[in-house]
Amino acid sequence: MTETTMQVAQGRFQILRFPIEKNEKLQAWDAADEYLLQNVAEKLDLDSHPNVLIINDSFGALAVALSEYKPCAVSDSFISQAATRQNLALNKIEVDTVRLFDSLVLPQEKFDFILIKAPKTLAFLEDILIRLQANLTANTQVIVAGMVKNLSASVWQMMARYIGVTTPSKAVKKARLIYAQVDMDRVVPVNPYPVYYLLENTTYQICNHANIFSHRSLDIGTRFFLEYLPQAEKYQQVVDLGCGNGVVGLIFAEKNPNAQLHFVDESFMAVASAEENFKQAVTTANACFQAGDALTDFADNSMDLILCNPPFHQQNTIGGHIALRMFEQSKKVLRQGGELWVIGNRHLGYHVSLKKFFSKVEVMVSNAKFVIIKAAN
Ligand SMILES: C[S@@+](CC[C@H](N)C(=O)[O-])C[C@H]1O[C@@H](n2cnc3c(N)ncnc32)[C@H](O)[C@@H]1O
Repeated sequence: MTETTMQVAQGRFQILRFPIEKNEKLQAWDAADEYLLQNVAEKLDLDSHPNVLIINDSFGALAVALSEYKPCAVSDSFISQAATRQNLALNKIEVDTVRLFDSLVLPQEKFDFILIKAPKTLAFLEDILIRLQANLTANTQVIVAGMVKNLSASVWQMMARYIGVTTPSKAVKKARLIYAQVDMDRVVPVNPYPVYYLLENTTYQICNHANIFSHRSLDIGTRFFLEYLPQAEKYQQVVDLGCGNGVVGLIFAEKNPNAQLHFVDESFMAVASAEENFKQAVTTANACFQAGDALTDFADNSMDLILCNPPFHQQNTIGGHIALRMFEQSKKVLRQGGELWVIGNRHLGYHVSLKKFFSKVEVMVSNAKFVIIKAAN
C-alpha cells in the first residue's frame, strides 16, 4: 500500500496526492522533501518568527509541515495548490495559514528562508530566480531541494548566477540540497521571460511564459494538429484541453468564428499565455480561460468538441494516467454526438485507450510520427 503518513522532524502528517485516486501507487512527497524538512528543522526558530517562502511544493508536504511558520507558497500548478488546501484541511490546519500565490505574482516582502523544490522546467526556475530578487536580503537563506537526477549542472549554474555562492549537501536517499549564499554584488540580467515566437503562416507573436510546454518554438505534434483542425457549424461549445499557450484553440477559432472557446490548463502560466495570445489575435470570437484539473469543472453533456494534445507528465511524474483521465472525463462532458480530437505520438497507443471509453474511434490522419484520432459517443 502507498504510504500516506509523512513522519518528519516537524511531526506526523497525512499527505495525499490530488486528485485522490483509488489504488494510488505514488506517494505525495519524496526524499528531497524529507531531507529539506529535516534540514530546516535545525535552522528555523519559531520564536524568531522567520518569514518563509516555499516555491514549487508538489502536493503541499512542505507547506503542511511548515504551517506553524505561516509561510507563503508559490506554485504554477493548480493541482499543487488544490492538494495543499486538501492536505492542510486533512491535518486540521486552517487553510489560510499558508498564503498561496500563483506563479505569475510573487509576494511583495523580504524572506528569511526561501525553500525551492527543483522544478522540471529549467526555464521556470530561471524565471523565478530572476523575479525573486526583490525578496532577498543579505541574510536570506536560499535552499533548493531535489532528487539528484533532477539537479543538473544548469540548476547549480543558475543558483550561482542569480543568488550567489552555492554549497552542496551530501546526497541522502538520492536527494540533495543546494544552499546559496546571497551575493549582494550580483548582477542579474533582464528577465528573458515570457518569450515570443512568430506562429508560422500567421502574423501572431505567441507569448510563452517560462513554464509552458515547448515555449521556444511550435511543437511538431501541435503543428501537425493545427493543419487538420476540424471546421463545421455544429462545433459551438469547444474546449482546448491542456491548452498550453493556446495555439490550438486560437487557430480553431479562426476557422470557426462562431464557436465559444474554453481554454483550460493546470498551469497558471499556460492559462495566462493562452489568454494573452487569444486576445491579441482573435478579437471577434468568444472565449473563457480557466486554471483547472482537466474537465473537472465542466458540466456533463455540455460540450460539442474537445481538442487535446495530452500531457505525458504532471510535474515530475511521467505516465499516461492523465491522458486516460482526460479521455474518461471527455466522454461525460461531451453532448451526444460530440467529438474528442486527440493528437499523439503513434507509439502512445491512444487509439486503444480511447476505445475503453468511446464506441466510435477513427484515425483521421497520420504521418510517420503522429496520429490524429476522433472519438465520438
Ligand atoms: C503536451 S502539452 C499541450 C499544450 C498545447 N495544447 C499544445 O498543443 O501545444 C499538455 C498540456 O497539458 C497540461 N496539463 C497537464 N496536466 C493537466 C491537467 N490535469 N489538467 C489540465 N491540463 C493539464 C500541461 O500543463 C500542458 O500545457
